[in-house]
Amino acid sequence: MNNTLKIIDDRVSLRWYDKKRISSEDMDKIIKATLSAPSAGNMMMYSIIHIKNSDTMKKLSESCDSQPFIKTASDILIFVADFNKWNRYYEITETYKGSGRRPGKAEMIKSFEDTMIASTNAVIAAESLGIGSCYIGDILEHYELHKELFNLPNYTIPIAMLTLGYYPEKFKKIKKKRFEREFMVFEERYKDLDEKDLKTMFSSKEEEFNSKKTNEGKSFIDEFYTRKTNADFMYELEESVDRWFKNWK
Ligand SMILES: Cc1cc2nc3c(=O)[nH]c(=O)nc-3n(C[C@H](O)[C@H](O)[C@H](O)COP(=O)(O)O)c2cc1C
Repeated sequence: MNNTLKIIDDRVSLRWYDKKRISSEDMDKIIKATLSAPSAGNMMMYSIIHIKNSDTMKKLSESCDSQPFIKTASDILIFVADFNKWNRYYEITETYKGSGRRPGKAEMIKSFEDTMIASTNAVIAAESLGIGSCYIGDILEHYELHKELFNLPNYTIPIAMLTLGYYPEKFKKIKKKRFEREFMVFEERYKDLDEKDLKTMFSSKEEEFNSKKTNEGKSFIDEFYTRKTNADFMYELEESVDRWFKNWK
């Protein structure tokens, strides 16, 4: 396995960081790698907000579904899907004319793609420097609070956040299992899995869940549905996402 593949293969989400702060040299390398990511039409429809302030980190550790480890990160990067800069440039150059097309949902999706692709470069670059990271999806929650805290204008949506810090010494990586390839990669056409396939696909998650003593008598899928899909935070997230979408105008 070559070095890059090994870095990708070894990565785990890191939620416990060394006390040493990320050096500015290493952060520069991460940012450089991030900005070199491919983007649709090379339009780079995203912005990155770099957080080092501990008060802001504390606020984020509460607003992002109360996850205390967030405030222990050395640095945080918020990845903002962003058409504001292009929109404003179209405006100041008076490019918008008459009934010509205005940016819409297509730009929204394209900017999501650019943003997430760039964030992945940050994860891999960080990992190559011994810096672990964890995505925090909950940055999409609490529309008003996050919009205000980060001064986010129309045509911006913070779609991902990364906590970053050096791996602590003696950290033992535990790799999480993935769904088997046959359920994830289809040849030539999409395969709508039948019931038998779906049961096989989910069996490893069921087995992992059932192997834990604390889960005795519980059903994996009922627990998962309650914790991830029918959870209070998902109702809040749904409302927040609606508002972010309305902000895209
Ligand atoms: C979009 C996204 C949002 C995530 N949000 C959180 C989060 O809020 N808190 C957390 O601890 N992990 C979060 N994760 C990390 C996932 O739990 C993790 O990637 C997954 O369990 C697989 O584990 P691994 O990254 O160690 O391979 C998120 C990952 C992604 C891609």
